[in-house]
Amino acid sequence: TVSQDLKGRRILITAGPTFEDLDPVRFLGNRSTGKMGIALAEAAAARGAGVELILGPTHLSTTAANITTTPVRSAREMHAAALQRWPECTDAILCAAVADYRPETVATDKIKKKDGELTLSLVRNPDIAAELGNNKLADQRVVGFALETENGVENARKKLLRKNLDFIVLNSPRTAGAAFGHDTNQIQLIDRNKVTAFELKTKREVADDILDRLAADKPTP
Ligand code: C5P
Repeated sequence: TVSQDLKGRRILITAGPTFEDLDPVRFLGNRSTGKMGIALAEAAAARGAGVELILGPTHLSTTAANITTTPVRSAREMHAAALQRWPECTDAILCAAVADYRPETVATDKIKKKDGELTLSLVRNPDIAAELGNNKLADQRVVGFALETENGVENARKKLLRKNLDFIVLNSPRTAGAAFGHDTNQIQLIDRNKVTAFELKTKREVADDILDRLAADKPTP
């Protein structure tokens, strides 16, 4: 039997990519599949938590008990869904690969090919992690993810501070078998004071390592 150490917690999890539409048939996306976030949702529910899973476009899904899935497409939809659920949650784990930019306008008709170059104008999306982190109550915890190709720990710690996160999960796309699309991941957990490194493991095992840290950091009742 699995320990019910997250009983009484309600955990908001964002997962998967976001798609930013350009026109009715084209979009800007990324290679996230949502595997890590779904593993986190299933592990958290198995440990007694209620889970609000806000899931970007992916062919993956979960039917595990105690997980409410809200499917979204764009960063702005994910942002709205997360803000709506955040007041009822004790914790947030922001696992989604949110597009930093979206096309300034979405064409109502398919964009026609012309001679020469086409320049797209992009505008910034809201930062969900920063907004939740900088607006959390004393008993709410916010966990972020960082995917860095260089100066991982330094950049992850900058994000931790700027977004006011309790801790951040650093994974490197350069590690064989880790991050996007793989069944395994290799992480470091970074907070203000320390860095803890883990072995390459299945995403479910990685999820449990992350949740161990969250469970130890109990919200004040
Ligand atoms: O700044 P960067 O995108 O590298 O930060 C990654 C962390 O912030 C992840 O936890 C990601 O889910 C979250 N994030 C977010 N909203 C954004 C961009 C990133 O929640 N618009």
